[in-house]
Amino acid sequence: MCGIVAYIGSQAAYPIILKGLKRLEYRGYDSAGIALYGKNITNFKKKGRVAELESWTDEITLTASVGIGHTRWATHGEPSDVNAHPHKSNSGKLTLVHNGIIENYASLKQELVQKGYTFESATDTEVLVNFIEEIQQSNNYSLEEAMRIALKRVVGAYVIIVMEEGFPDRLIAARKGSPLVIGVGDGEHFLASDASPIIEYTKKVIYVNDYELAIISQDEIILKNLGNEPITPYIQQLDMELAQIEKGGYDHFMLKEIFDQPDSLTDCLRGRLDSENMTLTLAGVEQHLSVFSQAKRIVIVACGTSWHAGLVAEYMIETLCRIPVEVEYASEFRYRNPVIGPGDIIIAISQSGETADTLVAIERAKEQGAFIFGVVNAVGSSIARISHAGAYTHAGPEIGVASTKAFTAQLTVLAMMAMKIGKAKGTLASAEYDRLIAELALIPEKVKTTLATHEAIKEVAKHYADARDFLFLGRGYNFPVALEGALKLKEISYIHAEGYPAAEMKHGPIALVDENLPVLFIATKDAYYEKIVSNIQEIKARKGMVIAVISEGDTLIRDMADHVMVVPEVDELLAPLISVLPTQLLSYYIGVLRGLDVDKPRNLAKSVTVE
Ligand code: F6R
Repeated sequence: MCGIVAYIGSQAAYPIILKGLKRLEYRGYDSAGIALYGKNITNFKKKGRVAELESWTDEITLTASVGIGHTRWATHGEPSDVNAHPHKSNSGKLTLVHNGIIENYASLKQELVQKGYTFESATDTEVLVNFIEEIQQSNNYSLEEAMRIALKRVVGAYVIIVMEEGFPDRLIAARKGSPLVIGVGDGEHFLASDASPIIEYTKKVIYVNDYELAIISQDEIILKNLGNEPITPYIQQLDMELAQIEKGGYDHFMLKEIFDQPDSLTDCLRGRLDSENMTLTLAGVEQHLSVFSQAKRIVIVACGTSWHAGLVAEYMIETLCRIPVEVEYASEFRYRNPVIGPGDIIIAISQSGETADTLVAIERAKEQGAFIFGVVNAVGSSIARISHAGAYTHAGPEIGVASTKAFTAQLTVLAMMAMKIGKAKGTLASAEYDRLIAELALIPEKVKTTLATHEAIKEVAKHYADARDFLFLGRGYNFPVALEGALKLKEISYIHAEGYPAAEMKHGPIALVDENLPVLFIATKDAYYEKIVSNIQEIKARKGMVIAVISEGDTLIRDMADHVMVVPEVDELLAPLISVLPTQLLSYYIGVLRGLDVDKPRNLAKSVTVE
């Protein structure tokens, strides 16, 4: 949450930072700001979207070649001009952008107030910039020394980038718990929360680690730890193309990403699944096959949509590998004092690889001796780097705030993991393994077939765009899909929606059913089919409106339901990969019909780097 961008070089910084902030807007979009070092440091910040910054016409913007920018997801203090970043210190010497949360800001603020500091905003960031200034001024330290000392006292998470009056040719950045990438150019450097603002200019990047300080000028990058010891920067080559982070003719990133899925799943399977030779290669699992084969249990930690992928994985792993699986909300797990130790495997699932709760949950589990396996989309992200091993989902950048293609890629990786481990353990027979390989190879084509029904789904959306509430029901592998469908609808359309296992309906939610309540059943052909049919009848008997995701050729449910969305038949273990697609499209179309900004739903941000 919150995106930061900075530039130092010989080009005009303003357009580079502005464009970069637009690329990072998915991380937060309630206010934005840019500070540029022209004759001195000038700050321009506004409530609202990054586009508000386009009204900055100050001459200086045309010439300055050093600057920092920020797009905000409010934590401390409401969205407003004054709470927007960058923040200046009381003397005006320091200007700073920050992504993260300073947890002990209240006590630091009290100290500063006693020393005569005043504050314009309600933010923790303004406290931090003044805290650094106070240390610098009272000890006559350099900015670098003052930052080192200040950051040792700070509790919380941060990436900060600081500009100092009198030093127009230098930026200083530091990181703990929030992401920071440095783009290495020729006579210029870029800093950003992720690589998307950088990719257009250079593919050479350095991922800054926790407790590191980066002193950056036009020609030099110096990395140090908080103990002032130098660190050799590790320059990596980005494996990302500009086209991947653009809309490519679609109205919204969300729609583009939904339609990306045949390709993103092909990318996810590439080099791993070979259905001609019936082989499956998953290096991260293979290198640790004995750890997985001997596991007494697996704990999956994740949040939101990734947590739903974890629920599907529970069914997959228990079925194919006969290993007990627990699926935990990372936010609960990290505070619960869970019983974890050597021999336990923790699978962390995360699109961004930066979700604070998931990151801390695995840090704690790692300290207690667990083996950490990351299923992550963002290459080089914090969760990927802290894991002992892992498998990237290779879905490509996901920009729409609502997760779509990352979810199906997660399911694909998790299915491959379960197959690989099950085969190694002997709990998955060779014939069944081969059959699943063949089924998995067909998935991208079946995704394409399903997405081709989008016009029919748009028609369904028209009937329900004004609904106030929605119920999503499913059983077995399709139960987590019901949860995911409900989450997608509520975040994109602001319609209240709940997901339940279909059988639980009779234990409470059925009281909600009347002629105004749409109930969406994920009712593809599987072992629970007959039971789902009974559940649909129970809703119809109470005059509820039924929408059903059904398998091709299913006339029974087609005749019972008010509306259907049809998908190709798939093995039930892989069914969520297909049955989730109509729910993604339905949410999208309902959101659009309601006139909402589906790529940037209110109050949300894509990468939740605060707890
Ligand atoms: C929902 C959504 C969120 C994320 C959650 C975890 O559409 O995107 O629920 O799934 O914030 O994020 P990651 O996967 O980045 O850890």
